[in-house]
Amino acid sequence: MNKGKDRNPLIAVYPGSFDPIHNGHIDVIRRSAAVFDEVIIAVTYNPHKDSALFSADERVEIIREVIHDLEPRARVDKFSGLSVDYAERIGAKVLLRSLRSVTDFDYEMEMTQMNKKMAPNIETVFMFSDPRLFFTSSRLIKEVASYGKRVPELVPELVMNRLRAKLKLS
Ligand code: PNS
Repeated sequence: MNKGKDRNPLIAVYPGSFDPIHNGHIDVIRRSAAVFDEVIIAVTYNPHKDSALFSADERVEIIREVIHDLEPRARVDKFSGLSVDYAERIGAKVLLRSLRSVTDFDYEMEMTQMNKKMAPNIETVFMFSDPRLFFTSSRLIKEVASYGKRVPELVPELVMNRLRAKLKLS
């Protein structure tokens, strides 16, 4: 094991669609930045058919604004393709995922097993979301925002403003 001052930095990739980022994600990013040397928030996109509300570049821009106080320990990037390929490309040993409840479990377990088959040297590490944010999801936030509701305890104001602008509500 490579311990001590001259070890390689322990880099974690936190992949996701982040459409848009919410307080549950931000809490995980803050906590993981205190554990890993570097956390790369990696926005996934499909260059051929992306069903996200925000473009990959918009999602990156929003995340950069939200986490700027954590840079350079946490930073944002985007990729298309497999998470494990991206992680290997940038020299990350860890894929970071968050779990809200048992409903996330099956999906995450399947993905972890498949990723392990493809890239045995990469470990998936899970962090539980803050229990106060267990029910928070980008999908529901978009849904309530589309009806003009603000949910200030679930997303930063700048994200809510970007959502309202995108949905042409302001
Ligand atoms: O939190 P999300 O948005 O549901 O994240 C899903 C994500 C982005 C982690 C997953 O779809 C992903 O890793 N996509 C990249 C393609 C890939 O690696 N798929 C997993 C194969 S097992």
